[in-house]
Amino acid sequence: QQPLDELIASLTVDVPDHPEPGVLFRDLTPVFADGRAFARVVEGLSAPADSDPRAAALAGADRATPTFDVVVGVEARGFLLAAAVALSAGVGVVLVRKAGKLPRERISADYVLEYGTATLELHSDAIRPGQRVLVVDDVLATGGTLAAAVALVEQLGGVVTAVSVVVELAALGGRERMAPHTVHALWTT
Ligand code: PRP
Ligand code: MG
Repeated sequence: QQPLDELIASLTVDVPDHPEPGVLFRDLTPVFADGRAFARVVEGLSAPADSDPRAAALAGADRATPTFDVVVGVEARGFLLAAAVALSAGVGVVLVRKAGKLPRERISADYVLEYGTATLELHSDAIRPGQRVLVVDDVLATGGTLAAAVALVEQLGGVVTAVSVVVELAALGGRERMAPHTVHALWTT
């Protein structure tokens, strides 16, 4: 069986100068469109404790026990991954959304994106204090998006036991920005 990072790399399409000059866009849609690859990606995102000693310690020694009670996905591309991971793990999925989308009482976090700035929001009752949370997204670039998502979860008292992404763009320093959280990346490039 082909190593997962090689499989993801082989299906990813690089798009130079998108959405603006100088940005190399890593298009993961062909990975999601491939049934076998998507299944392996979902499986990989779901098993962060295997490579994250801190998450394993937070979750307890028994690896047979799920290390998270809920999966948080970040709009938009994180949604399809978080939903699949949650379904496969038998837990629920919680949405971190772009500003203006959530209808009820909510908390907000501003962040700077690789290209532009934005605000993420989370319903105030979406996470219970002490709940163990796996945060999922497709790409870790500068880390601004995931840092904001983690901050929202923690503001509500959630315990982020793991952060999982399909691809980490190492040159942009997102991993360092996420400390002390260890990012579980299926492919680092
Ligand atoms: C993209 C990507 C990640 C984020 C990574 O989202 O899906 O969520 O950027 O960048 P960062 O680590 O520098 O924050 P984007 O908001 O561009 O688009 P999306 O709504 O399609 O997910
Ligand atoms: Mg995104």
